[in-house]
Amino acid sequence: MRKLLFVITFVLAVGFVYIGSGIAKDESDKAAKLWNSMQEADYQNNWALWPGKSKLYKGTHPHGALLTTYTNETAANALKAGAKEMPKGSIIIKENYMPDKTLGAITVMDKTGDGKDDYFWVKYMPNGTVAVKEVEMDGKKMSVTLAGKPKGCVGCHIASVSGIYDIMTEVK
Ligand code: HEC
Repeated sequence: MRKLLFVITFVLAVGFVYIGSGIAKDESDKAAKLWNSMQEADYQNNWALWPGKSKLYKGTHPHGALLTTYTNETAANALKAGAKEMPKGSIIIKENYMPDKTLGAITVMDKTGDGKDDYFWVKYMPNGTVAVKEVEMDGKKMSVTLAGKPKGCVGCHIASVSGIYDIMTEVK
């Protein structure tokens, strides 16, 4: 009996690790594809800046001292029309700069569905790799890949005062 329990536990554990790494890999692949499409679109030259914001505007915690926020056409049109929610296909790219104007990270929200929270979130390092955050859970150190639905991104954004989850800049 003990042996059977052990075997079951073992199989379950291996299964979860397998599924877990599968999800992480899937998210990393999606993030890499998104990064490539951003470069192909040459967003820095072709996308609109967030309405009313210039390049390198003064940032809010935790997004860096200076920020530049770009919106693709779908997002830009929605903002122009005063939409309260971003339609599917909207992409918002926020470049996060240090006080000395070196680029620290690029955080992206990609609206992949019609639902309010159907966002794919990513934090990229300036070279395009996905940022990894070290967290401690139950005394164990773990690495969390910041792509998909990272708890930090979602948790803070969902707490935006009006509940308008995706247009935080208007809420402040
Ligand atoms: C502690 C709160 C907090 C966390 C955590 C956070 N954000 Fe934000 N985010 C904000 C605030 C505040 C703004 C508005 C900043 C501004 O433009 O001045 C913002 C704006 C953005 C924007 C521009 C669109 C918008 O809603 O204004 C993107 C894209 C974004 N965040 C992505 C991310 C990603 C990706 C993560 C996780 C890696 C993340 N954020 C984590 C608070 C947070």
